[in-house]
Parts: sequence; structure tokens; C-alpha cells
Amino acid sequence: MNQTLKGRTVIITGITDASSLALIIAKECKDQGAKLICTGLGKTPFHKNLSENSINFLDRTYSDFQNTVKQELGEDVVTFPLDVTIQESIDSFADFLLEKKETIHSLLHSIAMDKTIRQGKVKPIMTVSREEFMDAMNVSSFSLLAIVQSLYNRNLLVKGASIVALSYLGAEKVVIHPYKNIGVAKAALERLVKEMAMELGKEKEIQVNAIRFSPYRASKAGSAIEGLEEAEIHCHTSAPLGNALAKDLAEEVCYLFRPSNRITGEIRHVDGGYHIRG
Ligand SMILES: NC(=O)c1ccc[n+]([C@@H]2O[C@H](COP(=O)([O-])OP(=O)(O)OC[C@H]3O[C@@H](n4cnc5c(N)ncnc54)[C@H](O)[C@@H]3O)[C@@H](O)[C@H]2O)c1
Repeated sequence: MNQTLKGRTVIITGITDASSLALIIAKECKDQGAKLICTGLGKTPFHKNLSENSINFLDRTYSDFQNTVKQELGEDVVTFPLDVTIQESIDSFADFLLEKKETIHSLLHSIAMDKTIRQGKVKPIMTVSREEFMDAMNVSSFSLLAIVQSLYNRNLLVKGASIVALSYLGAEKVVIHPYKNIGVAKAALERLVKEMAMELGKEKEIQVNAIRFSPYRASKAGSAIEGLEEAEIHCHTSAPLGNALAKDLAEEVCYLFRPSNRITGEIRHVDGGYHIRG
């Protein structure tokens, strides 16, 4: 068995349930020998004035996340609640790692949210409010910087650590299904990847990369996007190799997580070659 990640500690964000891309990536990291620390959206001591509905949602989400991790990855995997919109929540996760004397070799950012995508519909960009725009940016882009800052400032990231964020072709192009507001947030995420790659590479040989994956309807986030079923079919028939599988993505993430590579600031495609089409 390939044990390339043996002795490495990997933080996995963004597991909702067994259909999450993050879960499939976590499994591959584990198979390759990594120790996993998983964060899931849930209630934290820093949430204030929550409605009953919000409490129920956060409790249910966290319990689904914990059950998924236990069943799919094992009882011994460390889990921690994280809401990336709250700085204290991010910092308390980093403090927890510090207290446990963890050193982090890799981080997967697999977090996205856009309130303009609701009940299978995506709002036209001309109707997006300032708040909706900022929310999508906050959760889907700034969160990468916020998490890494918090880890870096506590010296938790080893020299040569590797960070990967998940993105989509809709960051660059107006794709064949509505992606709109979240596309702008993904563009910011990818640009952040490059700025972070420059600073962190020079300072500590830390690599920061993003991967654009094929449309993937199976996950909660994917199933919410208008027209993704048609997009999956279209991309599958148009791409030279058809749509990439989640397993292809997981293997590419592990490749970028392996020790001593010199790849950074890349926006890679794991999409069966769809991105070369005009
Ligand atoms: N599904 C696709 O077609 C597709 C394609 C390419 C890239 N991606 C990207 O892959 C990543 C994972 O998406 P997925 O398809 O596995 O869906 P998913 O719904 O399983 O994952 C999205 C995750 O974001 C988390 N999240 C949302 N708000 C949060 C917050 N405030 N704090 C902490 N976590 C929060 C959710 O809890 C969830 O676990 C996303 O970045 C997505 O944009 C998805």
C-alpha cells in the first residue's frame, strides 16, 4: 500500500456527510497513512443570539458530520466544531491544536456557501445584495486566509506544509449553468491562493494550491446548484476523458500533500480535460 503520507497530520475541513468531496479526500489521505483532524460546521460557544431553527440546524449538521467521520474514517479521528464566519471559532480550533501539541503538515479547504443559491435556483448577479456578496466571499474565500493565518501565527504549520483549496471552472468563466455570485467568490479564492503561495513559500516553503474539479451533483453543495445535472452530462460528453471521479480528485490532493514537492500557486484541473474546450 502507498504510505506517502505516513507521519503527516492533515486537517480536513468541509465534511457534511458521506457524499462530501472532503470525506472522499480524507479517506484517501488515511489510506496513504495520514493522521486526520476533521472540522465540521456546528454550534460553538461563540455563536450568539441564535434562533431555535439555527440551533437545530447547527446541532443536526454537527451530529451528521461526527457520525460520518466515525463510520467512514474511524472512532479515533479527532473532530472539532468550526464556523469560519466567526474568528473566535477559528482561533479556538487553532488553540486546541496548540494545546494538543499538534504540528500540521497539510490542510484541505473544502468550504463554500452562497445564500443566493436557494431551492435549486441561483439569483441573477444583478439582484445580488451587498450582504449576500460579502457572505459568499467571507465563507468561501476569506475563510482560507483566516484559517491559515490562525494556524501560521501559532507556528502550527511545519516548514514545507501543503495547503489545497477546492475550486471550480466557474471561477474563471461563465459556465453553462448558473454559478454567478459563488463564481466571483471562487475567483477571489484562487487569487488568494497565489498571494498566499508567494508569501508563505518565501517565508516557510509552504505550498498553496487550488484544484478545479468537475461538476459533482452527489454532494449537498452540488445538489443545490441549478442546472448541475445538465452540466454534469454536458461536461462528461464534451471532456476528452469524461468527468473526473472524486477518487481522481482525492489522489491529486494527496499528491500535492506529499512531502518535499515544489509545486505552488497552481490552479490545477481535475476535470477530465473539460477546461481545454472552447
Ligand atoms: N460539488 C461540485 O460540483 C464541486 C465542484 C468543484 C468544486 N467544489 C467545491 O468543493 C468544496 C466541497 O463541496 P462539496 O461539493 O463536497 O459539498 P459539501 O456540501 O459536502 O461541502 C461544503 C462544506 O462547506 C461547509 N461550510 C459551509 N459554511 C460553513 C461555515 N460557515 N463554516 C464551516 N464550514 C462551512 C459545509 O458544512 C460543508 O461541509 C467546495 O469548496 C465546493 O465549492 C464542488
